[in-house]
Formats: sequence, structure tokens, C-alpha cells
Amino acid sequence: MKIILVGYMASGKSTIGKLLSESLNVSFYDLDHLIETDMNLKVNEIFEQKGELSFRKKEREVLTNFLNTADNYVLALGGGTPCYYDNFELYQSEGIHSIYLKASVETILKRLHTQKASRPLVARFNEEELQEFVAKHLFERNYFYHQVKTIVSIDEKDEKEIVSEIVSKLT
Ligand code: S3P
Repeated sequence: MKIILVGYMASGKSTIGKLLSESLNVSFYDLDHLIETDMNLKVNEIFEQKGELSFRKKEREVLTNFLNTADNYVLALGGGTPCYYDNFELYQSEGIHSIYLKASVETILKRLHTQKASRPLVARFNEEELQEFVAKHLFERNYFYHQVKTIVSIDEKDEKEIVSEIVSKLT
């Protein structure tokens, strides 16, 4: 089974991905971690030291290699992965089940509130700037996020509910 999780920052891709992989008994991978291992730097260090373009090139390369070699997995992408270099086309093949964890701007803001420091794209914003940025950014990215097989709305749902909804949609 090959499953790709797509979604905006703080939509729960890693948390849901781990739980989902346990319930399906397959391995879990996080694309950001694969990039960090490859470059021996944290994502925010890559942005700071090498710039976003360099991160996006590496992201494309690591994703391509992963999809060419891995079998039986749940892979959580980074929030921007589907939106660069037509990366979304890479996981539109027959054997891959792609899932968009769809969250409203409100849900994302609630979660990012406590998590933004580790995320280079939003770390610098105050609350008002963050609201404006996320609303616009999510709108721009939605086109790419919607290029998946299955959309699961996560607003007001707990982790267990989300995982069982995904499992029910896989069969
Ligand atoms: C990014 C999201 C991050 C990480 C990088 C860029 C984005 O991943 O890949 O900071 O462009 O939305 P998460 O979605 O896991 O935070």
C-alpha cells in the first residue's frame, strides 16, 4: 500500500501519518525528515543557509527518489511540496493513494499559533500578519492540494476519527 498525505502546515500530516501507518502496519516517512537526513541540516537551517529554492530542488529530488524505490508506506509531504515543479504529478499514478488533509484557515491558525517558530515561512509573523498570510497562501495552494484522490476534512475531528475516516476511504 502506498499512501501520500498532503496538507497545509500544521494540518496534522505527521501525527495522522504515524497513526495511519500503525493501523495499516506499514512504515511511516516524513519528507521533511528525509530531506534533513540527506542534507544533514534542519529544514529551517536549509532555508537560512541555502535559501528556499535550494530546499525546493532537494525536496523534488528526494521525493522522486523515494517514489521510485519505496513500497508499502505512508509518506507525509511538506506543506509546499505539491505546489512546486508540478510535484503533484509524481504521485498521481495508479498505485498511489493521495489524501489531502483539508483544514480551514481557522483550524490552521489555532494550531500554528503554538507551532510557528519551527516553520521558516511563518516564524517572523505577528498574529495579524499570520492571519493575512495563511488566508492568502491557503487560497493559492488549494489548487495543488486538490490534485489528490481523496479529500478528508479535519476540522473539529480528533485524530482517531480522521484515521478511521481515511481507512474507510481506502477500501
Ligand atoms: C513548508 C512546510 C514545511 C516544510 C517547509 C516548507 C511549506 O512542512 O516543508 O518549512 O512550504 O508549507 P510542514 O507542512 O510539515 O510544516
